[in-house]
Amino acid sequence: SPDISLANTQAHLNQLQSIATANGGNRYTGRAGYTASIAYVKGKLDDAGFTTTVQTFSTSAGQSSNLIAEWPVGHANNVVMLGGHLDSVSNGAGINDNGSGSAGVLESALAYAASGQTAKNRLRVAFWGAEELGLLGSKHYMSSLSTTEKNRIKVYLNFDMIGSPNPGYFVYDDNPAGNGARDELTAWYTAKGIPWEYIDVQGRSDHAAFRSYGIPTAGIFSGAETLKSSSQAQKWGGTAGRAFDPCYHSSCDTTSNINATALDRGADLIGHMLWLYAAKDYGTTPQPT
Ligand code: PHE
Ligand code: ZN
Ligand code: CA
Ligand code: ZN
Ligand code: ZN
Repeated sequence: SPDISLANTQAHLNQLQSIATANGGNRYTGRAGYTASIAYVKGKLDDAGFTTTVQTFSTSAGQSSNLIAEWPVGHANNVVMLGGHLDSVSNGAGINDNGSGSAGVLESALAYAASGQTAKNRLRVAFWGAEELGLLGSKHYMSSLSTTEKNRIKVYLNFDMIGSPNPGYFVYDDNPAGNGARDELTAWYTAKGIPWEYIDVQGRSDHAAFRSYGIPTAGIFSGAETLKSSSQAQKWGGTAGRAFDPCYHSSCDTTSNINATALDRGADLIGHMLWLYAAKDYGTTPQPT
């Protein structure tokens, strides 16, 4: 599977930081920093040949939007989705939360487009708005789809916070029925010799909107406000008794608030899952009429 470029992923984070800095220090819903973030990601995906759609919706903080990008080959009845939220809180630039997941999904999508692979399934990547206001973008997206369109989505993989400065390597599926994606995530860590832990994230990110319709979901997470335990520090390094991300939802969530090893591992795992799901055999069901 691919080696996703850490340098390119970091370059996306630098761009999101510049956007925040130029727009009052944040990329919050309803503010110029969010609109500029959408324009940045859309421009990269358009240039790479993705078909992009901006879906706008209103919130108590003003208008927000989701950016949906589809790679225009593969079986339209078998949609595989990866995504994360692009908005920050109002306190800061939101570079770990969630520039990191956004940059990893973006760079993996660009790498796939450049790879010359022929997707068997329809690859769709999503950048959600207003997650920080209560998962509004992903909920809006799901409520906008017909039953037929919902049924086409075979999996949704969520990436929210993958570069925490005192990182852990957590895997969730948040789906009581269980699904293969969680095992594929843990197998990648195991193959790399990276210890991992399951976590129950209690529906705290955008995969919850998919799960509520019974769509299989999974994701990775490098930790937020919770303190790293001494046993976790023993297996992962870093600092026991300190938060995985001490700058979570704070003004210090800048490009300094990223662990490069965690970001690189997270981006490579996103790329691995993207390649895997683009080629997965779901059979060929007929087009709905
Ligand atoms: N969604 C949370 C936020 O944006 C962070 C989080 C991500 C929590 C993943 C749990 C799991 O603030
Ligand atoms: Zn791989
Ligand atoms: Ca890499
Ligand atoms: Zn957040
Ligand atoms: Zn988040």
